[in-house]
Amino acid sequence: MDTLIFATNNQHKVDEVRLVLGNQFSIITLQEAGIDIDIPEPHDSLEANASEKSSSIHTLTGKNCFSEDTGLEISILNGAPGVKSARFAGEDRSFKANIEKVLQLMGNTSQRDARFRTVISLILDGQEFQFEGICEGEILLEQRGEKGFGYDPIFVPAGSPLSFAEMNPEQKSACSHRKKAMDKLIAFLQNKQ
Ligand code: IMP
Repeated sequence: MDTLIFATNNQHKVDEVRLVLGNQFSIITLQEAGIDIDIPEPHDSLEANASEKSSSIHTLTGKNCFSEDTGLEISILNGAPGVKSARFAGEDRSFKANIEKVLQLMGNTSQRDARFRTVISLILDGQEFQFEGICEGEILLEQRGEKGFGYDPIFVPAGSPLSFAEMNPEQKSACSHRKKAMDKLIAFLQNKQ
């Protein structure tokens, strides 16, 4: 299997994906491939945005590649921020402002169910395949922890005493949405070998 391009500019995602992959498959990032573009995410579903990212990079390079799009889906907010997770509080994609907006909208409601959902889009030999990973959990009343990125300080996965931002990378990876989607991608690639 040739090296796969991971179509993202998010170094946190790269670190998490490399942790899951170990030495099973090698990937290169957009930066490592010398590709400097900000791929748009114009659609209203994670599936369509993931497709947009992988197909943009495939069109540009002709190479096998994959992308992922992730959203935090909060039940009481009817699935928001969902596909709008990155820009929930505005175009500058501030993690801090996004978290503050979620906490403000939720107030002190006891209905705090939420989930992270990741959709990976793989383009292999010109054909697209998608893989989904879900992590169920709850939104905290206030932030806890300094690690991770995005909404990690307000998300506690089901059954855990720790927020994602209180976990080390291995602990987050043991239960995360991204890891679950990556496991499906890895199993698929192993089958193709
Ligand atoms: P996107 O997949 O790059 O569109 O990411 C959407 C947004 O969701 C990011 O900007 C982060 O704020 C958030 N996000 C994605 N993955 C995670 C995660 O694993 N933990 C916390 N927040 C995340």
